[in-house]
Amino acid sequence: MNPTGYAQLDELLARLAGIASLDESALEAEHTAILGRKAGALTEASKQIPTLPPEERRGFGAAVNQVKAAFEQAFTARRAELAEESRRRALAGVDLTMPARHRWIGSAHPVTTVIDEITEIFRGLGFVVAVGPEVETEWYNFHALNFPANHPAMDMHDTLYVDATPVPGDRGGRQLLRTHTSPVQIRELLTHEPPVRAIIPGMSYRNDPFDPSHAPAFHQIEGLAVDEGISFVDLKATLVHFARRFFGETTRTRFRPSYFPFTEPSAEMDVECQLCHGSGCPACKGTGWMEILGCGMVHPAVLANCDVDAERYTGFAFGMGPARITMLRYGVTDIRYMYEGDMRFLGSLR
Ligand code: PHE
Repeated sequence: MNPTGYAQLDELLARLAGIASLDESALEAEHTAILGRKAGALTEASKQIPTLPPEERRGFGAAVNQVKAAFEQAFTARRAELAEESRRRALAGVDLTMPARHRWIGSAHPVTTVIDEITEIFRGLGFVVAVGPEVETEWYNFHALNFPANHPAMDMHDTLYVDATPVPGDRGGRQLLRTHTSPVQIRELLTHEPPVRAIIPGMSYRNDPFDPSHAPAFHQIEGLAVDEGISFVDLKATLVHFARRFFGETTRTRFRPSYFPFTEPSAEMDVECQLCHGSGCPACKGTGWMEILGCGMVHPAVLANCDVDAERYTGFAFGMGPARITMLRYGVTDIRYMYEGDMRFLGSLR
């Protein structure tokens, strides 16, 4: 707008061009300063009109109105511009110049992955997956598996009993949280004629403290093969095949004599330490070996308890702890990490 010739108004006009670059709060402050109904500079100028000599009123009044219109137009235009800018920002929703956020991707728990891998290897050998209940009776968990009456494992210090009435009958007894997956061997043999080949993953429970080497609730994987003519050679060949498939084709294994009430003979299988590959380190206590499972030939008394003809059939069974195997694989030394569900730790194993 051209100068009006009135010093007072021309002074205000000098501020007109600046409006196009004001932000929201500066814009409103300027609006109040110039057009504010109470003390705006142009409002004050209008108030002077009636006090002027009549011949000056028309010219000055017209100039005030022109300047007022120019400012109103400038404020309206700037307000619309600011509204459009903020609408664009909201529509975009993001500042594209910001660094990208890490995308969270879920995955199976490492113990679950290990269970799936183990199961898959045995499925390849013709084993089928079987499961059983986690609340068992004394008969399935102990007696059918040839534990002698009053075996210390049945003590309250080792076994978690469920506070409920004992189940009556031949296969009953006190109810407990199974201390191993071996009772599922019994359930399989009671419901299937040999040949039986089962791979049995599941939770087991023991009255143990939650410390670096114990978890009161832990996974097991059980295996069972019963058929005519199965020998210790089959047991060894199967488990060595498993160790090579799982840990790598050159992995060395060894069998040590052991004892379980439900297998005879019994053994424990070691694999070469996954951390030092046999040279000896703190994780394997300098031996170069790590124990991964218990196994043996199914005891004839167990077959008899399941009405399987022990003269005709033989078999082998094994049991392992997939959480411990997961720890061997990753060099983890405290089993609690496997069960605490700390995402920072679990994510680091991938
Ligand atoms: N049930 C045994 C345990 O929990 C493991 C095992 C299973 C051993 C099958 C031999 C045969 O320690």
